[in-house]
Formats: sequence, C-alpha cells, structure tokens
Amino acid sequence: MKKQNVFQRMGNKIRNAQRTVAVVIDTTQRELKETVQAVRERDPAARSTAEIVLLYSGVHAIVAHRLAHQLQKDEHYFAARAISQAARHLTGIEIHPGATIGKNFFIDHGSGVVIGETTEIGDNCTLYQGVTLGGTGKDVGKRHPTLGNNVMVGSGAKVLGPLKVGDNSKIAANAVVLHEVPPHSTAVGIPAKVVRRGGVKVNDLDQIHIPDPVAQELAKMERTIAELRREVEALRAAGVANEQKEQ
Ligand SMILES: CC(C)(COP(=O)(O)OP(=O)(O)OC[C@H]1O[C@@H](n2cnc3c(N)ncnc32)[C@H](O)[C@@H]1OP(=O)(O)O)[C@@H](O)C(=O)NCCC(=O)NCCS
Repeated sequence: MKKQNVFQRMGNKIRNAQRTVAVVIDTTQRELKETVQAVRERDPAARSTAEIVLLYSGVHAIVAHRLAHQLQKDEHYFAARAISQAARHLTGIEIHPGATIGKNFFIDHGSGVVIGETTEIGDNCTLYQGVTLGGTGKDVGKRHPTLGNNVMVGSGAKVLGPLKVGDNSKIAANAVVLHEVPPHSTAVGIPAKVVRRGGVKVNDLDQIHIPDPVAQELAKMERTIAELRREVEALRAAGVANEQKEQ
C-alpha cells in the first residue's frame, strides 16, 4: 500500500474527527431529550426545558462527557481530555473520558463531582454534589467503582475502589464506601455499612454484649461434666444397692 504523507494523514484524522462529532451530535440530541426527562422526574425544582438545557451544570457535564467518551473510543485521546477539562472548568464536574455512563444519568447541583477513568455507571443513576467515584490508590487496571441501575449516591459520598454497588441501592450523604453494596440496599457512614436491605432494617451485631465463643464452649463442657457426674453417681448408688441385696 502507498505510504501517506503527513497532509493525507492529517486529512484522515480530521475526517475521522468530523465523523465522530456527527455521531455524537446525533446521539446527544436523543440523550439530551432523555436527560431533560430524567431531570424533570428527579428534581422538583426544575421548571422548564429551557432552564434545564441552559442552566443545569450537571446536564452540560453529561453532554460534554458523551462527546469526550466518543473521542476517547475513537482514540482521539488529547481532544477527549481537552473537552473533559474544559467541562470541569465550566461546571466543577470532572468526568474522565474513559468512564462508561448509562442512560438517564443525572448529576444534581454538580460541583465537586469526580468520576474516575474505569468507572462504570448503569442506567437511571443520580449523583449529588461532592461525590467521588474514585480509586483507593491500591489497585491497577480497573480501579474505580461499578454502579448498577437506579443507584443514588448522596452528596459528599466517596465510593472508592473497583467495588460494585448493586441495582436500586442508595449511598447516604457523606458515606465512604469501601466494600461491595448488594442490590436494593442503603449504605451509610464511614466506613459505609448496609443498614437497610429491601427497605428492611439490617440488625447490626451488638458490639457491647458480644458473645464469647470460649466461654460458651466452657459452659457446654461444664453442663456435660455435671450430667456425667450425675450418671456415675446413679450407677454407683445402684451398685451399692445390689451389693446390699446379695448380702
Ligand atoms: C440514606 C438516604 C438515601 C435514605 O435512605 P433510606 O433507605 O430511606 O434510609 P432511612 O432514611 O430509613 O435511614 C436508614 C438509617 O440510616 C441513617 N441515615 C440516613 N442517612 C444518613 C446519613 N447521610 N449518614 C448517616 N446515617 C444516615 C438513618 O438515621 C437511619 O438510621 P436508623 O437505622 O438508626 O433508623 C438519605 O438519608 C440520604 O442520605 N440521601 C442523600 C440525599 C442527598 O444527598 N441530598 C442532597 C440534596 S442537595
């Protein structure tokens, strides 16, 4: 095959980028419609479509991410990162172009949200301001969380590491999640613990009146020895009675 000169290669790159932008504009129009619907459903303060499209920084960050993510997939890494950083300056929301985000995603209020490169987010998820979906610094490769569908992460919460948050789960405001959260659960606190599963309270172990397994075993042995002693005494008494009868 004939080798292309630098201008031909640049021309190809520009044509690829144009194709990418055309695909993104097409999908963004559809997604924008869905995002506006999602905001209307989840934010009681939203009044009109114009307000949501023009004034919601969460919506701007998502639209910028769709473009950055498509550019990243088409290996335009610098352009992808440039768009992601420009969006961060405008919205205060930093989404790495590599993050995979499902449909009807909504970031309410926005500022201070950070979403890492290997994060995966399902459909219909909501994040509030100050949320970090980040790494612990201990993992390589897949370093960031995976959120299922219909997950809500409250303001200021940190979800750290390549863990899973199951479908329909809620992470409380300011929680720090370091372990997997099962589906249909509510996790609260630092480190986060599951306090509700399927809407039902999960009973925590009583840390004050904690059972002592050694003491339990000793008590069982004591009961067994007492039983054996009673049996031996009964046998001994029966033997004495027999002896007396024979005399
Ligand atoms: C966790 C949350 C989603 C409620 O979920 P839920 O499944 O309805 O849970 P409940 O309200 O029944 O609370 C469960 C328990 O967690 C506690 N809890 C709730 N939120 C908590 C929080 N952020 N931190 C610590 N504990 C919390 C409750 O007091 C309750 O404790 P109990 O078991 O001793 O009664 C909600 O409290 C929350 O944090 N939402 C975040 C919303 C947000 O960020 N809004 C910002 C808008 S700008």
